[in-house]
Amino acid sequence: MLQVTELKKVFKSGDTKVLAVDDISFSVPDGQFASIIGRSGSGKSTLLSLLGALDKPTSGHIMVGDKDITKLRDHALISYRGSKIGFIFQSYNLVPNLTALENVMLPMEFAKVPKKKRQERAKKLLDQVGLKDDKQKRKPGRLSGGEQQRVAIARALANKPQLILADEPTGNLDSQTGKMIFDLLQDLSRTEHTTIITVTHDVSIAGKTDVVFKLQDGKLIKDK
Ligand SMILES: Nc1ncnc2c1ncn2[C@@H]1O[C@H](COP(=O)(O)OP(=O)(O)O)[C@@H](O)[C@H]1O
Ligand SMILES: [Mg+2]
Repeated sequence: MLQVTELKKVFKSGDTKVLAVDDISFSVPDGQFASIIGRSGSGKSTLLSLLGALDKPTSGHIMVGDKDITKLRDHALISYRGSKIGFIFQSYNLVPNLTALENVMLPMEFAKVPKKKRQERAKKLLDQVGLKDDKQKRKPGRLSGGEQQRVAIARALANKPQLILADEPTGNLDSQTGKMIFDLLQDLSRTEHTTIITVTHDVSIAGKTDVVFKLQDGKLIKDK
């Protein structure tokens, strides 16, 4: 269970304050597929980076299982990010000079998984997301956007995370490819029982998730 309580994030620059996340509380049970929608500037990315411990809240709590991740420091924080969370970004964020296979192996290297195991699991994950053998040996520059996002999804799954956080994962894709990527995420949330939280602009995509959180000016205004 992910439980967010009275979460706030204030950005200050000079005399101006932006309440990017304004007193948000919600919870997501394990294995659920949730989406966050809202206009540009409503606080979606800020909320997601707080959930992934990429940024610290001004106040409030984020319980992941029995751990309050806002209290993690240094090593514990890095280890939480690396082992419990998988990130997927709009712009894929793959390492350009590594092959698809090596990109998926990388998080497992940080987690000190032996090389042979890393290779086996990376291959299995890439098969699972539908990237063919020959393409697994290619660098990202020689893959289409949809293929790169498949690699990014396989990479996010590498360390069997509890939680996958995706920021507009279909934002750079045409609508048909976007739908395929979305269906893939949905399958994963079912088969792997992984909690997935995805930010999206696409209302038709959000409508298919288990729960929808809508943000407006940093506030949670309604959920389904
Ligand atoms: N690092 C930052 N410094 C100052 N203001 C920020 C920063 N990040 C985001 N903001 C502001 O916080 C608000 C929410 O931004 P963001 O979370 O990126 O929205 P969204 O992802 O919904 O478009 C916006 O007003 C934005 O300008
Ligand atoms: Mg954003």
